[in-house]
Amino acid sequence: MTTVNTSTPRTAADPMALVDVDHVRFFVGNAKQAAFFYAYNFGFTIAQRADLTTGSRDRSRYLLTQGNIRLLLETPLSKDDPAAEELRNYGDGVKDIAFTVDDAEAAWKQAIKNGGESAYEPRTMSDEHGSVTTAGIKTYGRVVHSFVSRTGSYDHKSLRNGGLLEPGFEPVPHLAINDLNEKNPCGLMYVDHCVGNVEENRMNHWVEWYENVMEFKMFKHFDDHDISTEHSSLMSKVMASGNNLIKMPINEPAEGLRKSQIQEYLEWHDMTPGVQHLALRTNDALHSVNALRERGVDFLQIPDVYYETVWKRIEQTLLDHGQTPVKEDYDRIKDLGILVDADDEGYLLQLFTMPLQDRPTLFFEIICRRGSQSFGKGNFKALFESLELEQERRGNL
Ligand code: FE2
Repeated sequence: MTTVNTSTPRTAADPMALVDVDHVRFFVGNAKQAAFFYAYNFGFTIAQRADLTTGSRDRSRYLLTQGNIRLLLETPLSKDDPAAEELRNYGDGVKDIAFTVDDAEAAWKQAIKNGGESAYEPRTMSDEHGSVTTAGIKTYGRVVHSFVSRTGSYDHKSLRNGGLLEPGFEPVPHLAINDLNEKNPCGLMYVDHCVGNVEENRMNHWVEWYENVMEFKMFKHFDDHDISTEHSSLMSKVMASGNNLIKMPINEPAEGLRKSQIQEYLEWHDMTPGVQHLALRTNDALHSVNALRERGVDFLQIPDVYYETVWKRIEQTLLDHGQTPVKEDYDRIKDLGILVDADDEGYLLQLFTMPLQDRPTLFFEIICRRGSQSFGKGNFKALFESLELEQERRGNL
């Protein structure tokens, strides 16, 4: 593994400079109900909505927030809405990873100039308090990247402080679940990375797409020898925005004796690329995973045998590179079933949820970095063995 990316400073004049992950938009079958799933299980605040009660007659939308994470759950209200067809084809999942930029129209124009294809043209929503301009380009499969620029009380700082997402949204009236979550925080802070599954032999195409269209750089590189198990494997490359704000690993299925998890995803996703997982960052993995487990989050089960070998590997790696040892309690890590990995820069703690919907497609990762900027390569084998056990239980191996 080699790090080939160096952070490129960006100037305000650069239209492709990303300020933040503005929000991640999901198409879901029932936003009103899905909001409670994510609020109860993961501690998100059900903050804002735009639905029939607020005058939105085409789609129902709920904005969920936690730390600097904003999930926008969106449901079409008519069968003729293209989102309804996507729901039929893919089930619930991520439609849009939206980025805050200085000027959405300028970013969109630059992306098109770079070879990108428009998903939708620039549009501005405004009222007496300010405006929000969005414009979208198509990335892999069914996914788009929206560029979002904001003014007045809709600006980025206001949004981060709990301001409204855009004109038409209203705060959700008092909900007991929001009180419960405020008293019992899960500690999720922001989107660390967002992983896409693409078709076989198309990984390099999408790597080049992120280089050319989004002006991203390659961050880390794995080959299939790193990430293979006896039965299945994948190939993965990580793309990062110029300022390393967002990292977007791209997976493709690789040759294996049995069906890979990437292949399973594609088969349940109408053979169409899409987002496989969102990694949500915490500063305290023990607290977050414990809180999520208490709420009933279904995590991948890590075999006990994993902990028989992991500490020797981690300690040796950290020692070899002069890094400080793992400060978290080993027994607590094992009790909570958390994965650990180390590299030349430090270590990380991570854990993966089971699919968030009936189809084995999108899941979350909880990640805590202690210096390490990688993605848990040493855990891929353990992860895939666990995933395959679950695939076998679903009869999909
Ligand atoms: Fe990940």
